[in-house]
Amino acid sequence: AEGAQAYLPGRGGLPALREAVEGCRGCPLYRDATQAVFGAGPAGARLLLAGEQPGDVEDRRGSPFVGPAGRVLDDALEAAGIAREEAYLTNVVKHFKFRRDERGTRRIHRTPSRTEVVACRPWLDAEIREVDPEVVVFLGATAAKAVLGPQFRVTRERGNLLTLPEDAAGGAGRSALATVHPSSVLRSDDEQRRAAFDALVEDLRVVAR
Ligand code: URA
Ligand code: SF4
Repeated sequence: AEGAQAYLPGRGGLPALREAVEGCRGCPLYRDATQAVFGAGPAGARLLLAGEQPGDVEDRRGSPFVGPAGRVLDDALEAAGIAREEAYLTNVVKHFKFRRDERGTRRIHRTPSRTEVVACRPWLDAEIREVDPEVVVFLGATAAKAVLGPQFRVTRERGNLLTLPEDAAGGAGRSALATVHPSSVLRSDDEQRRAAFDALVEDLRVVAR
């Protein structure tokens, strides 16, 4: 596949993009997913938050961050003093990539490949252009590397106010920030979960008003 570019409408803003993404065949991930999951939130939102890809719940419901990771993100945004209306939520990859467990019942998340992330980038670029946020927030390594390059290290750079590079989505010079993915809070063990959540909140506070 040649990537998503050929599937993007030339005009019509977010509504046209949302309608067109369902027809995207820019990489093989559309085949096994239920549907494409486009971003959600107001055009003109002050912050655009980008995760990795829809999870199992998002794939079935068609909206980003409505499953367990979304609950953590909601709590973290609230704790950081960021209102939901300030935020447009999306993912760098629009279709759910998964494998079946041994019994074939549960669908287990798989990290999208670099090729798939690159193929899907035109949708994120278009969302950033249309939403025109002050700051783009990357949630987790996959999202950050998608725009800031494969060498980027979230562990080293988290919570730092960055500037998007020349070739970045939506144009150069826009502010950006990277932090961990909210699902990493869910994966940390009981003693560490609170600290992991607090660290996520602290990073998000950097871009709160
Ligand atoms: N994880 C993500 O990265 N995005 C979602 O929408 C849900 C879970
Ligand atoms: Fe298109 Fe992205 Fe879905 Fe691949 S994951 S088919 S590039 S929308």
